[in-house]
Amino acid sequence: MNDQRIIRVAIDGPSGAGKSTLARSAAAELGYLYVDTGAIYRTIGCAARRRGIDPKNAETVAALLPELRVELTYGDDGLQHMALNGEDVTAEIREPEISQYASAVSAHPAVRAYLLEMQRRLARERSVIMDGRDIGTVVLPDAEVKVFLTASAEERARRRMLELEQRGTPQAYEEVLSSIQERDWNDTHRAAAPLRKAEDAVLLDTTALDFAQSEAALLQIIRERAGV
Ligand code: DC
Repeated sequence: MNDQRIIRVAIDGPSGAGKSTLARSAAAELGYLYVDTGAIYRTIGCAARRRGIDPKNAETVAALLPELRVELTYGDDGLQHMALNGEDVTAEIREPEISQYASAVSAHPAVRAYLLEMQRRLARERSVIMDGRDIGTVVLPDAEVKVFLTASAEERARRRMLELEQRGTPQAYEEVLSSIQERDWNDTHRAAAPLRKAEDAVLLDTTALDFAQSEAALLQIIRERAGV
C-alpha cells in the first residue's frame, strides 16, 4: 500500500448532525487536514450582517463578494480560523444569528462559485476530511470516501441545545428545533447545490449512537473505503 496517496474524505449532512466534531477528531486520528466549509459560508454571512445587507438578496450579496478577502488558516492550536478582510472572525461566525445568514447567502450561485476553487485548492496538497453540504456532490465529486452523516431533527436539536447551554448561550428546545428545521428546508430546497446524499456516499445515521460509537463507525467507513 502506498502511504503517499492523497485521500479525500467528503462528509455531508444536515446542520447539527455532529459533522464538525466527528470529522475533526477522525482527521486528528488519521493525521489528515480537517476543513470545515460551513465556516467559510458563515464568514460571508458575517460580512452581510456587518454591512446590514439582506442575505436573501442575490444581487446585493453578489456585489459584496469582490470587496471581501476570505482566508482560512490554521492556528498554533491546530484549529481552523477564519479571517474576513484581515480580521479574525472565528468566534463571531458561531453566533446563532449567523447560522441563518450563512444559510441564506449559501443559496446564491455567485457565492458558491466564488468559494468553489478555494475549497478544491485545500484538498489538493494533502489528505483531507472536508465537511459541508455539497462536498461529495459538487466540490470533490471524485473523493475517495464519501459519507452522508445524519440524525433525526429532534436528536440534532437536543444535542445543539446542550452545546449552546455549555457555551453559556442557552436557547429553548422548540426554538432550536425550529431553527434546525428551517435550515434543513433551506439547505435541501435551494436550486444551487442543494444538500443531498451522493449516490456513492455511505449513509451514517447517528440518531441512536453516542459520540464514541459514531466516531468508530466513521473511522471504519474511511478505513474500509480508502484502504488505509
Ligand atoms: O455547517 P454549518 O452549519 O456551519 O454551515 C452553515 C451554512 O452554510 C449552512 O446552513 C449551509 C451552508 N453550507 C453550504 O451551503 N455548503 C457547504 N459546503 C457548507 C455549508
